[in-house]
Amino acid sequence: MNHFLDIHKTDPADLHRMISEAKRIKTARKGLPKGTPDAEAVLANHMVALIFEKPSTRTRVSFDVGVRQMGGQTMVLSGSDMQLGHGETIADTARVLSRYVDLIMIRTFEESTLLEMAEHATVPVINGLTNRTHPCQIMADVLTYEEHHGSIRDKKVVWLGDGNNVVASLIHAAGQFGFDITISAPETLQPEAGFVAWAREKGVNVELESNPQKAVEGADLVVTDTWVSMHDSQTTKERRHNQLRAYQVDDALMAHAKPDALFMHCLPAHRGEEVTSSVMDGPQSVIWDEAENRLHAQKAVMRWCLGK
Ligand code: CP
Repeated sequence: MNHFLDIHKTDPADLHRMISEAKRIKTARKGLPKGTPDAEAVLANHMVALIFEKPSTRTRVSFDVGVRQMGGQTMVLSGSDMQLGHGETIADTARVLSRYVDLIMIRTFEESTLLEMAEHATVPVINGLTNRTHPCQIMADVLTYEEHHGSIRDKKVVWLGDGNNVVASLIHAAGQFGFDITISAPETLQPEAGFVAWAREKGVNVELESNPQKAVEGADLVVTDTWVSMHDSQTTKERRHNQLRAYQVDDALMAHAKPDALFMHCLPAHRGEEVTSSVMDGPQSVIWDEAENRLHAQKAVMRWCLGK
């Protein structure tokens, strides 16, 4: 039984196999209506619980569709509607759910909730985002880069803006897939030092460059995200906007990257804040492929979790 808790906790060979598998899964479905089952019903007779303690569009729909295409069934559960939100322990919830379902995906606030769920579940648990990391998103991003431009190894990936949970998983991916990463953020919004230290110990070239133009110089991939995350208090909003205004990805900033550099954003985006519409809708943007690839990457993750 494999839990998919974080990219740095997963064997690099397994991660590479999941990306290859995702490419194969995507190719095999080309042109099929979304409701058509996959040729191999690898999740036939399987029940999957999708637990959300935070809002979601992509994670919710892509996991649900992915399970159904693989022949399984889903139940989408909101944390607040479960006893989990009313005093039942995470450990007891994990033990009970494991008697009903074959796989659990959870989006939650504290990483400790995910870890406790995994410790006490007797079925695989997948991290669908915590305040600290978002590994499923970054598996989709690696898949998206590679389908457009080949191997991501040794490429220069640049993150602009808040040092949030998405860049944490991107840093982990730099260590496991072997790419260089430059993070351009104000001093107070850098990612956790431990993430950077882990990647540097793995031999990753991690640059912290507060000047966004310098950071983007020669980039193969430019990535950003919203300036205020779901778990941030709204009182930080105005301060964040003032701090991050200089890190907006616009056409002038993209011009510092390589001419064929790609632009990614995990979405939802706040157009006109962290990125302009002209970049989002421009020729270098692969955001819709990136969103679609959540589906294919997560199918590969679920298959790995269940040994399929
Ligand atoms: N990128 C992402 O996780 O999207 P949702 O919040 O809509 O699931």
